Amino acid sequence: MPKPIHINLFIQSRGHHETAWDHPGADPRSLMDISYYVDLAKQAEAAKLDSIFFADVLMMTNDAMESGRFWPDPVIMLAAIAMETEHVGLVATGSCTYSEPYNLARQFASIDHISGGRAAWNIVTTWVEAVAANYGREHTAHGDRYEMGEEFVAAVKDLWDSWADDALVDDRSGGGVSGDLSRITPIDFKGEYYQVKGPLNVPRSPQGRPVLVQAGASDRGRDFAALHAEAIFTAHLEKETAQEFYRDIKKRAADFGRNADQVVVLPGLNPVIGGTEAEAKANLMELNARMDPEVGRRTLSQRFAGHDFSHLDLDQPLKVSDFPDPEGLETMKSRAALIVRIVDKEGLTLRELLARFAGGRGHYTTAGTPEQIADLIQDWCDPDADGFNYMPPVIPALMNPFMDEVVPLLKKRGLFRTEYEGTTLRENLGLDRPKSRFFPD
Ligand SMILES: Cc1cc2nc3c(=O)[nH]c(=O)nc-3n(C[C@H](O)[C@H](O)[C@H](O)COP(=O)(O)O)c2cc1C
Repeated sequence: MPKPIHINLFIQSRGHHETAWDHPGADPRSLMDISYYVDLAKQAEAAKLDSIFFADVLMMTNDAMESGRFWPDPVIMLAAIAMETEHVGLVATGSCTYSEPYNLARQFASIDHISGGRAAWNIVTTWVEAVAANYGREHTAHGDRYEMGEEFVAAVKDLWDSWADDALVDDRSGGGVSGDLSRITPIDFKGEYYQVKGPLNVPRSPQGRPVLVQAGASDRGRDFAALHAEAIFTAHLEKETAQEFYRDIKKRAADFGRNADQVVVLPGLNPVIGGTEAEAKANLMELNARMDPEVGRRTLSQRFAGHDFSHLDLDQPLKVSDFPDPEGLETMKSRAALIVRIVDKEGLTLRELLARFAGGRGHYTTAGTPEQIADLIQDWCDPDADGFNYMPPVIPALMNPFMDEVVPLLKKRGLFRTEYEGTTLRENLGLDRPKSRFFPD
């Protein structure tokens, strides 16, 4: 029996390609229309995907207008989607740099209750420097963000654990009580950055704790992910680095004393599908031809902490020296390193690099038939991936072939579920339900 594959649908704008929002094959509904997101979640559920996911950045990004990069608050969307779905997991980003543990713990526990155990938190240590100005703060250095993150996550876990599973009593007899205070505890969390008395004002949720998702990829980020995450999103431009990442994360998790099977690693996959290989490649070329290199230049600049690429000729091969050293950046070190690596390896021109980036912002982009994409998924997952974070290029035109053809092929090959294994996201991902730290009985 092959190991089960997990697939998450990463929903962003009208697709991940930077030109998706006004593509003729894109959904005409407003990006503020919740029915658009609800219908996507229902489609993911009909295909039996594990989960849907909304990323988040706490500012208007510098490509927001040209690329349609704006959406309602992800956690609020999850609440609405929870009411219209039954099985699909619900993942949203929450920042531990610009939130408070109490707020966040309460929000995600609430989504877990509302959805009957389908919530997951994508833990981010916000990398975009300009966000700081929306909070009257200075940008926090990379290492410090992870230190804050460690405390933040510890406090959130404690808050989720502050109620025993049986603390809710709801005894309505005369003089009865709604809860058993002996089964609810303050957490008295005292850290350098956060002090939280507790307990949470929401009972323990169906999954005990919502699933923890993370996407750290620098050395520090990998340790953070290996220590805390139960599902890991990761971006790679090549199979080689994705497989190296997988083995490294599983090893780090084991070194921390965790069962490595309790960490599900999902690399990003941005496939452009066509009926034939030639059609798929033509679809990808057509998408890239719509791209505005100047928008790409700005996005690239944001990835490299505002570095100026404006003087570079679009059609000259790039050199490593055209980029700042990723290690010296206080933004997203890992993605920057992937970009520099591919430039070094393939000698791309700036135009070619921007085209590669326009599809999946550094995630694996490829073109092929449904069979070729199913082969690729099978190949990567045997053995060094647990599934994929699927990133449709254009919704619905270039997403439907994945849902209607690739997923059924995976099912036919016995690689993907035909029915949900359980009722909670943990059950579907094969993750244990954690015990409360304070009430382990
Ligand atoms: C699929 C995926 C989704 C991500 N979503 C977000 C997000 O919504 N908001 C955010 O600030 N960072 C997001 N990130 C960035 C990561 O949280 C992390 O900051 C990044 O991988 C850099 O980690 P590093 O600094 O350890 O290299 C995402 C990364 C990946 C791979």
